[in-house]
Amino acid sequence: MSSDFWPAQTKKLRDMIGMEHPIIQAPMAGGPTTPELVAAVSNAGGLGSYPGGYLSPDEIDSAIRKIRALTDKPFAVNLFTPEKTLRRKTPAKVMKKLGEIAGEVGAELPREIAAEGFSFEEQLGAVLDNNVPVFSFTFGIPKSKHMKELRRRKVTVIGTATCVAEGVMLEEAGCSAVAAQGSEAGGHRGSFAHAGEFPLVGSMPLTPQIVDKVSVPVICSGGIMDGRGIAAALALGASAVQMGTAFLTCEEAAVPAPWLDALRNSLDSSTVLTRVYTGKYARGIRNRFYDEMSGLEGKVPAYPVQNYLTRPIRNASRAKGNPEFMSLWAGQGSAMSRRCTAAELVTMLVSEYGEAVARLGGGA
Ligand SMILES: Cc1cc2nc3c(=O)[nH]c(=O)nc-3n(C[C@H](O)[C@H](O)[C@H](O)COP(=O)(O)O)c2cc1C
Repeated sequence: MSSDFWPAQTKKLRDMIGMEHPIIQAPMAGGPTTPELVAAVSNAGGLGSYPGGYLSPDEIDSAIRKIRALTDKPFAVNLFTPEKTLRRKTPAKVMKKLGEIAGEVGAELPREIAAEGFSFEEQLGAVLDNNVPVFSFTFGIPKSKHMKELRRRKVTVIGTATCVAEGVMLEEAGCSAVAAQGSEAGGHRGSFAHAGEFPLVGSMPLTPQIVDKVSVPVICSGGIMDGRGIAAALALGASAVQMGTAFLTCEEAAVPAPWLDALRNSLDSSTVLTRVYTGKYARGIRNRFYDEMSGLEGKVPAYPVQNYLTRPIRNASRAKGNPEFMSLWAGQGSAMSRRCTAAELVTMLVSEYGEAVARLGGGA
C-alpha cells in the first residue's frame, strides 16, 4: 500500500496510536466485545477497543492480559465517566409495567438497587497499571487529576462528544483526540453537557463542525458500515472512523443468536433511540420491550437505576433465545452488517475505501 493511500490528515492520529489504518473498532460494553475481537482488529492494522465500563478492575485486568496474549499491537480500553444520579423513587407505573414483563419472561425484579462494588478510579487503576496505550471514555470527562495522570503516562486519550460544545470541552480537558458520535450511532449516547434535552446531531454535520472548532484529531462515529462511509467521514475532515455495529456481526464477537438474527433481518428504519432499557438514551432495534414501555419514556428512572431494574428481564429474555425483551443495540446502518472475521472486515473496508475514492477521481 502506498504511503499516501490514506489522506494526510489521518497521519497524526495513526502515528500517535501506531495503527496502519484509520479504523477503530468501537468499544461495545455488555458482552459483545471479546479480547479476540479487539486483538484481531489491531492485528489487521486497525485499533481494537475493549469496553471496561461494566467490569470490575480484576475483570479489566484479566481481559487486558488476554488481549496482550493475542497481539503485540496497540489497543484501547474504554470506561464510563461516572455521573451524578438522582436516585428518586421509581414511579409505581414503571414498576407495575416492569413487573408484568418480568412475569411474562420468568424474571424477578431486584428488590434494591445495589451500587457497583468498585469505583471509576479503581477501574482506571487497572488500565494504568497495565500501561494500556490508548484510553477512551464516554458519558462525560474524568476528573482533572485523572486526565493529568493519563497525560503524564503518555496515554493517548480519546473522549466522546455529541455536539461541538462537548468537543471543545474535551480538547480543553486535555484529550489527544475527540470521537464525534453522531445520532445514527448504536448503543448509548455519550452526551454530557446538556441537562434534559440533548443534541441529536448526525455524524455528517457533527464531524466537520467539530473539526472546525478543535485542533486535535477528530474521529467520526455513527452509521459507518463500509468503505463508502469511511471515504465520506475522511472527506468531512475526520482523522479516523470508529465503527461499532459493523463489528458486532464479526465471528470473534460474542453476540447472542437472537441479537445476531435481529441485526441480519434489520432495515434502515428498524432502530429506535430510547431510554426505556437503561435510563440513558441508546439506539437499538425496536422490539416488544420498547413497544410496551415507550409510553413511560419520560417516567423511567435515570441510568444506572433503570439499567439495574431491567437487567434481569433482559438476561431472562436472552437465556430463552427471545429477542423481544433484550436490548438489541444497533446503529442506523445495521442492515449493511456482514458476517465475516474481523480481519476480513478490515481488509474489505480498506479496499472499499480505495474504490470509493477512485470513483470520486481521487488518487488512492
Ligand atoms: C452494542 C454497543 C455497545 C456500545 N458500548 C459502548 C461503550 O461501552 N463505550 C463507548 O464509548 N461507546 C459504546 N458504544 C458506542 C460506540 O462507541 C459508537 O459510538 C457506535 O457504535 C458508532 O455507531 P455504529 O454502531 O453505527 O457504528 C456502543 C455501541 C454499540 C453498538
